[in-house]
Amino acid sequence: MRIETRRRWTAIIRFILFGLAAIALGGFLLAWSGLYNVAASRGHLAVTNAMLTFGMRSSVRTHALGITAPPLDSQDLSTLGAAHFHSGCAFCHGAPGVPISPIAESMLPSPPNLSTSMREWRDRELFWIVKNGLKYTGMPAWAAQQRDDEVWALVAFLRRLPALDAAAYRELALGGLSVPAQSGDEIATTEGTSGAVSACARCHGENRRGPNSRLVPVLHGQPREFLMAALEDYAHGRRASGIMQPLASDLSPEDRERVARYYAGLTPPAAPDLPPLNPESVERGRKLATSGDPAARIPGCMGCHNASSLEAYPRLAGQHAVYMVNRLRLWKGGLASRSRTDAIMAPIAKALNEQQIDDVSAYFSSLNAAGKLNR
Ligand code: HEC
Ligand code: HEC
Ligand code: HEC
Repeated sequence: MRIETRRRWTAIIRFILFGLAAIALGGFLLAWSGLYNVAASRGHLAVTNAMLTFGMRSSVRTHALGITAPPLDSQDLSTLGAAHFHSGCAFCHGAPGVPISPIAESMLPSPPNLSTSMREWRDRELFWIVKNGLKYTGMPAWAAQQRDDEVWALVAFLRRLPALDAAAYRELALGGLSVPAQSGDEIATTEGTSGAVSACARCHGENRRGPNSRLVPVLHGQPREFLMAALEDYAHGRRASGIMQPLASDLSPEDRERVARYYAGLTPPAAPDLPPLNPESVERGRKLATSGDPAARIPGCMGCHNASSLEAYPRLAGQHAVYMVNRLRLWKGGLASRSRTDAIMAPIAKALNEQQIDDVSAYFSSLNAAGKLNR
């Protein structure tokens, strides 16, 4: 009896193994023969499409489980997200007033218009998609995998997108930049486009206008040498930013030099309408900036960040507190870059506690850049 059962099981297992081997061989022969058509022009069968979508949705849902979304209602976040969307996503997904490129539309699957036909996702799932991309669809991963903070800016923007019309989108993504209509001659013979995707001023401002989002650093009046080095670091992937890396790598070394000279020569913009700062916090920040915190082995910031410091060091007077806090927290959280100057600043940022980060950022943002520090 027992021997009987064992025999039967052995037969079943053998049958399954043969079956699997036959399927594998069949699959290999199909692939080898080239009979399966990989043409993107032909689309999938409805059933294949349904299975692929089902698998994709389940995969995103499962992989996003451990992620907690930060608050996403900040204007700074969604403005920065919009500006990046314009240069990094609209080519494929379109935007209000911006059609999807016919080239992108011919991809399989073709990228959906995210303002009208995005599937339903939780914030954490959107974050996961934008950070990791989707295999075999052409949806790219975020270029700087360490920069979750940047990915959240895109999620904040995607949440606002359905409510935007073309004018509101343009205002948000182009930051009030007016792009003059081009003559036929200019359209025919120059590289500029009305989309202004490469215009730095969309994010960093120009002349006497500062950045629209306080997560974007003020470049006005920064030393040319510092600006050049930062652009080179982005272009070569030594400083991680999924927003700046693609923009900087599009510039030739001569362009980087020219644009660095342009911002270095600008007078810092008037301080934006800030919410009133806490005077005690500003005072604690001032002390830290001038004398440091010897007990915690933190040097005074002014030693390297005043108007006459080395040209390779950034100036901080008039910099946005929101940007400074974010950058200092990133260092504290372990974000390291391979720039020549990173090793100088990273250990100092790591030694700061949360309150010191807030205080010292409030202090520097309170300095009218053109005034007290005369930078
Ligand atoms: C090269 C083209 C391309 C670029 C650039 C691109 N995407 Fe996509 N995206 C796709 C494709 C293709 C899909 C997959 C569509 C599908 O599965 O049906 C996709 C899917 C998505 C989805 C899921 C949509 C849904 O309804 O399920 C989101 C969200 C998304 N992309 C956001 C972005 C953001 C944000 C950016 C810019 C940072 C971006 N994409 C850049 C091609 C692109
Ligand atoms: C879509 C918005 C956007 C555009 C457009 C943009 N930037 Fe930036 N830029 C940023 C953000 C955000 C950062 C901060 C990145 C980081 O965390 O390192 C930054 C950082 C920089 C820095 C480093 C400054 C510092 O204080 O550390 C330089 C230099 C810079 N950008 C130059 C440029 C130039 C030149 C252009 C035009 C070719 C440009 N940017 C276009 C958003 C933008
Ligand atoms: C020994 C010189 C030195 C001291 C002291 C110093 N820093 Fe820095 N700091 C640097 C250098 C160099 C960089 C540029 C790092 C890079 O981006 O590669 C920098 C960058 C920064 C930035 C980023 C600015 C930008 O535009 O992106 C902030 C914020 C900053 N420092 C804050 C501080 C604070 C706050 C203190 C005092 C607690 C301080 N630093 C003390 C050398 C110094």
